[in-house]
Amino acid sequence: MKLFFVAAFLAVAAAVPSSYKPEYKAADITITSQSDERNLNGSSQWSYAQSDYTTREESQVQKKMQGVTYDSYGKGSYGGILGNTNKGSSYWVSSEDQKFTLTWAADEVGFQPKGDHLPVAPVHEYELPNAPVHIPFNGKGYKIY
Ligand SMILES: *[C@@H]1O[C@H](CO)[C@@H](O)[C@H](O)[C@H]1NC(C)=O
Repeated sequence: MKLFFVAAFLAVAAAVPSSYKPEYKAADITITSQSDERNLNGSSQWSYAQSDYTTREESQVQKKMQGVTYDSYGKGSYGGILGNTNKGSSYWVSSEDQKFTLTWAADEVGFQPKGDHLPVAPVHEYELPNAPVHIPFNGKGYKIY
């Protein structure tokens, strides 16, 4: 059975490269613009654009937030910390000529990507059941009324 899965995986892995036909060979793609700026206060930003129309830009800023720090003994304590936040966007065209735009922010509430191609979580359409009413027992399996 294990051998079957290994063989199936290898068959799929071998099939992928032959169906992938990029419009540009990697060697043909050139960087058309580029920037990179690092600041003493911990913020930074960088970007690039390529001849295949791919672009990417990101910026980072340090922000005071609440979190856990650990001392050299491994003891954690909750309080104010400096954390990195990040936001940016990227645009690219797939080998099937599909255009993608991804934007994101990452901060104290997590990574928040946005893009029309991203899957959307199903809408919650049912009511949660109510927890049963607690009926006290006498310790011997009998209900106390
Ligand atoms: C950090 O430094 C840069 C460059 O000096 C400045 O543009 C930016 O406003 C500063 N950011 C903060 C949060 O102080």
